[in-house]
Amino acid sequence: MDAVRIYGGKSLSGQTRIQGSKNASLPILAATLLIDGICEIENCPDISDVYHMLRLLESLGCQVSREKNHIRVDTGGVAAHDMPSDSVGVMRSSIMLLGALLARMGAVSMEYPGGCVIGKRPIDQHLCALRRMGVEIVEGREEFCARASKLHGAVHELPFVSVGVTENLVLAAVLAEGETVIHPAAREPEIQALCEFLLKAGAEISGVGTDRLVIRGVKKLHPVRFRVPADRIVAGTYLTACLCAGGSVFLEDAPCEQMQSVLACAERMGAGLTVWPDGLFVEGRACNRLEEVLVTEVYPGFPTDLQSLFMAAMALSGQGGQIEETVFENRFRIVPELCKMGADITVEGNRAHVRGGGPLHNTIVEAKELRGGAALVVAALAAEGTGIVRNRHFIDRGYEDITLSLRELGADIELA
Ligand code: UD1
Repeated sequence: MDAVRIYGGKSLSGQTRIQGSKNASLPILAATLLIDGICEIENCPDISDVYHMLRLLESLGCQVSREKNHIRVDTGGVAAHDMPSDSVGVMRSSIMLLGALLARMGAVSMEYPGGCVIGKRPIDQHLCALRRMGVEIVEGREEFCARASKLHGAVHELPFVSVGVTENLVLAAVLAEGETVIHPAAREPEIQALCEFLLKAGAEISGVGTDRLVIRGVKKLHPVRFRVPADRIVAGTYLTACLCAGGSVFLEDAPCEQMQSVLACAERMGAGLTVWPDGLFVEGRACNRLEEVLVTEVYPGFPTDLQSLFMAAMALSGQGGQIEETVFENRFRIVPELCKMGADITVEGNRAHVRGGGPLHNTIVEAKELRGGAALVVAALAAEGTGIVRNRHFIDRGYEDITLSLRELGADIELA
């Protein structure tokens, strides 16, 4: 029951609406802790990572209600600062609650966060930067305690760009005393969404969308209603589904302006793309070799979250290509699974060489993490025969219902 069955070899035709962004929803939900009162978050995806974040908020004393994609968080009763270890353990974004809870409660004790096994994913930079803002941290083997009687602003010159560290510092800074500078700040659209949410609630943040954020602490934020933007990674997933299986699909609400590096790459591989005000039309399949190495980078570069999906498309096009992963050191876990399907891929350090070749055939493969799992499903759409992707729970972390969306696009696929 924790699998997806795919009847491969059918080209796509149809339309699906792109869900709200996971990576924007999670820090925005954490940010509700900074606001005393009721916040309404619309277009929040119905995925297991959001479920775990809501459980964490409830365990802290929030009252949470949800009607489909509409979430209401009442933070009036927040009292606790210990979080249930099962939710912290499965989700890396629980680290987001650190900055927000320190601002709200002045103390946090939590286990080290989990998430997908795509690298070491340490939290050293989160802790180091928060110490600069007056936080005392005692690190144990399995958990740590952080305490700050008063958070104060600080100038953070960070050693590298991190999405999570930028978000945590924004959350810690909006109610801190004085000014905080974050440089280089990550510029991912999800950080812009978090800043827009906080600005709407009365925060003072300048430099949104640049690599230098300046935050002037305010005394109080007020409750707001906010709509989460569409998920560029989910849109990229269904784009690669069409690249692999061929056909023509319309991805309603796809945030094309946030997907420039991805769209450019898909076009070079042979896809026909048309950007409409309300979404993205994709036609054709990957038929060209990508001559340059596909290098993952921080935004606006090519996103690491779509790397395994493009690897699947390269393997299926028969043209091959090369990929260099610069963000996470362990993001090639899909390779042995794609090889079981007949792909010819070798990995040397952080480079993967995808050789072109014959068609892939479906078999039983295992998802090992979220995006790699989605990539196996997408690859199976274009492979011959019937395939099973096991460990669907990894995919459910980020996709509302990947089988439903792909059926809307004409795929022959079901839960198994
Ligand atoms: C976020 C996204 C994830 C995406 C990634 C990069 C969410 C919920 N997740 O993850 O989907 O793939 O950005 O775009 O938004 N690092 C350290 N020490 C730290 C923090 C990070 O060494 O304290 C390293 C990480 O191991 C990694 C790199 O920095 O190699 C970038 O990680 P980061 O940008 O922080 O990613 P996340 O916020 O975890």
